[in-house]
Amino acid sequence: MTAEMLPWILARATGMTAIALIGLAMVAGLLVRTRTAVGGVKGSGMVGLHRHLSLLSLLAIAAHGAFLVMDTTVDISPLALVVPGLVPYRPLWTGVGVVAAELALLVHVSFRLRSRIGARTWRRLHWLTYAVFAGGMVHGIAAGTDTGTTWATALYAGLAGAVAGLTGWRAVTARRPRPAARGRARVQTRPMGDTGTSQEALS
Ligand code: HEM
Repeated sequence: MTAEMLPWILARATGMTAIALIGLAMVAGLLVRTRTAVGGVKGSGMVGLHRHLSLLSLLAIAAHGAFLVMDTTVDISPLALVVPGLVPYRPLWTGVGVVAAELALLVHVSFRLRSRIGARTWRRLHWLTYAVFAGGMVHGIAAGTDTGTTWATALYAGLAGAVAGLTGWRAVTARRPRPAARGRARVQTRPMGDTGTSQEALS
């Protein structure tokens, strides 16, 4: 390995770190929604973990971009980090990465703007995390050098399996009324689409 190769290696490592952190942030968010405790972490502790993982994923994306600009293997300008299609290497798949990064930033900023934009708009924006995760996965698999290695395949499959499995679990538990809600249901009717779970706690 030469010193010249270092930014390229770090760009790959931070890309992998970014997708792992995005996946883990989604897992933590889904555990909040399904009220599932893992290793004693639940409720506000899980919300805190979710937010920290989300912030760390943004830092990893920023590092990924910085190392790509430093790397001389492919000529990537700072502008190409924000305008999809400007990277000469696999422009479609790197463009998908750019869009995923921008959506990740939007979702994160919406955390802070929740009181201004309202809970309903914030909740809708939060669904974009699925686009960020799917975009990041497709981008990494289609543009990455390490695609096809056993460890990368295990990472991608593990993340996809965890997010898909917990999303299914969330869909099942959202339909089942909680014990307290069951009592209230006798005296009041819930608005359509309100699952009664604590997404508000994610603010
Ligand atoms: C949500 C945002 C992003 C995530 C999660 C992400 C993740 C990844 C992953 C997992 C890889 C595969 C690395 C490997 O195989 O070792 C990768 C490669 C790559 N990404 Fe990203 N990326 C993101 C944003 C971007 C952006 C904004 C750019 C800038 C154009 C970009 C450009 C690249 C390039 C050129 C590669 C190929 C590097 C190589 O493996 O040789 N990515 N990315």
